[in-house]
Amino acid sequence: MRKIIIAGNWKMHKTKGDAEALAYSIKEKTKPRENVEMVLFPPFTSLESVGKILQDSFILLGAQNMFYEKEGAFTGEISPVMLKAVGCKYVILGHSERRKYFQESDELINRKLHSALEEGLIPILCVGETLEEREGGKAEEVVETQVKNGLKNWEGKREVIIAYEPVWAIGTGRTATPEIASKMHYFIREILKELVGELSQEISILYGGSVKPDNVDELMKEEEIDGVLVGGASLKVDSFVRIYNFSF
Ligand code: PGA
Repeated sequence: MRKIIIAGNWKMHKTKGDAEALAYSIKEKTKPRENVEMVLFPPFTSLESVGKILQDSFILLGAQNMFYEKEGAFTGEISPVMLKAVGCKYVILGHSERRKYFQESDELINRKLHSALEEGLIPILCVGETLEEREGGKAEEVVETQVKNGLKNWEGKREVIIAYEPVWAIGTGRTATPEIASKMHYFIREILKELVGELSQEISILYGGSVKPDNVDELMKEEEIDGVLVGGASLKVDSFVRIYNFSF
C-alpha cells in the first residue's frame, strides 16, 4: 500500500509569528490517520520554530527548496545539511515557480535530488506542463522529460515522491479534473516502471494545482492519486484541516 501524503506548501507566505500560529492551530485540530502523512512546508525563516511546534506531533516538516552543496561560498543558499538539522524530512524540488522565476533546469534539479537523497531527505520532485504545452498536445512529452531528467541516475535506491502539478492549474482556481490527473499519474507510473520496474508501484504520486476542500474528495477517490500538494488552501486552518480529513 502506497503512503498518502497531504502536503501544505506555504510558498512565500507567513512571517514567523503567523507561521507559528498556523502550525499550532493545525496541530490542535488534527489527529493521526492511518497511512496518511501530513507535511508542512513553511518558508525557511520559520522552519525551525514551526519544527519545534510539530516536534511532539504526528505532523512532519519539509522545505520548499535547497541548494545541492553541503556548505560553502554560495550566498543566499540553504543546504540539505541545514534542513536536516532543523528537522526536515522532505524537500520540494523543481516546483514550477522555481523553474519559471529562477530558471531551474532539469539538470540542476537532478543535482539537488541526489544531494537531498545523500543527506537523507525525501525529495518531492514536481513536474507538470504549461497550458500552451497541453494545448499543443505536448503534455505527456514534457512530463516524461521532466521525470526522466529529474530522476537521472536515481535507480530507485532511495525514496522519492513525485508531484504532478499542471502549471495551468496552480493558483488559478482551475483544477485538473480527476480524470485528467489520474491519466497523467498513470502515465508517470509507467515511466517509473520503465526506470525501476515493480518498485514503481510503491512510489507515491501527488497531485497539485488548486486543490480545495470541495474538490479533494473526488481527487482522492482516484486510485492513482496518492495525496495532494496544496498551495493557497493550505494557508487557512479550516480549509487545510478539511483537506487533510478528505474521504475516499
Ligand atoms: P495552489 O498551489 O494549490 O495554490 O494551486 C499548488 C502548488 O503550487 O503546490
